[in-house]
Amino acid sequence: MLLDVKNLDISYGDNPVPTVKDVSFSLNKGEVLAIVGESGSGKTTVIRAILGVLAGSGHVSGGSIELEQENLLQLDNKGWLKLRGRHISMIFQDSGNMLNPVQTIGHQYIEYIRTHAHVTKEEARQMALDVLRRMNLPNPENIMASYTFELSGGMRQRVGIAMAITFHPKLLLADEPTSALDVTTQTQIVKELMQIIHQSDAAMIVVTHNIGVAAYMSDKLMVMAQGEVKDYGITEAVISNPQDEYTKKLLSAVPEIGGKRYV
Ligand SMILES: Nc1ncnc2c1ncn2[C@@H]1O[C@H](COP(=O)(O)OP(=O)(O)O)[C@@H](O)[C@H]1O
Ligand SMILES: [Mg+2]
Repeated sequence: MLLDVKNLDISYGDNPVPTVKDVSFSLNKGEVLAIVGESGSGKTTVIRAILGVLAGSGHVSGGSIELEQENLLQLDNKGWLKLRGRHISMIFQDSGNMLNPVQTIGHQYIEYIRTHAHVTKEEARQMALDVLRRMNLPNPENIMASYTFELSGGMRQRVGIAMAITFHPKLLLADEPTSALDVTTQTQIVKELMQIIHQSDAAMIVVTHNIGVAAYMSDKLMVMAQGEVKDYGITEAVISNPQDEYTKKLLSAVPEIGGKRYV
């Protein structure tokens, strides 16, 4: 097993009631878990906890998170730094926000690589160009010389994904990776992400409010509401036999295509 999350509680500040309550799931190598649920249900909180980057006063107040049998909650800062970017990495909703607008993509990408690996600038540049090529980005040299405002949202997001996969992480966390994009670009990027997952055998947790995208991408599906897991299991099983009323409501909103519930 790659990732094992057990009875996870997450609290903000000293609120006696945890915001995320008793969340359990597990993930094998190469598997994709989709987390769906309404805004504020705790999806981002869960994946931030796995990366050890809870916002504000957020902290894990119960349960455990194990990556390959190692308890992540016992890591010190140095341990987290070794893990992030290399073994677990995050794709954000809008990678443009993560990048500095006054430095070229290349400058930032090379610096990013060199904070995680002892390589020369030229070696880092070659690594970056290789990964950009894998992301089907045309003319990667040009992209390296560009500033974020010179790229479309889809291109920026591909750069963010490229950076996240540079070191072949075991686990990719993607928080609404396509929500900021138009529908056509969303579809393309979802397909590209799936290709990468299959080629690299990485596992992924993808947060999305689109249950259609979730069902298309995932092996396992988790539905959250009010900080709790409402449904969880093999995607087909959750879709064909949802246990919770909230899940049933979500599914009833998905259109049927060609007589089959296509999502
Ligand atoms: N930085 C924060 N400080 C305090 N509470 C927060 C913070 N971030 C999130 N929360 C709380 O956690 C709840 C879940 O938020 P979040 O995980 O962002 O949900 P989702 O990603 O499903 O929209 C929010 O309703 C809010 O009450
Ligand atoms: Mg969120």
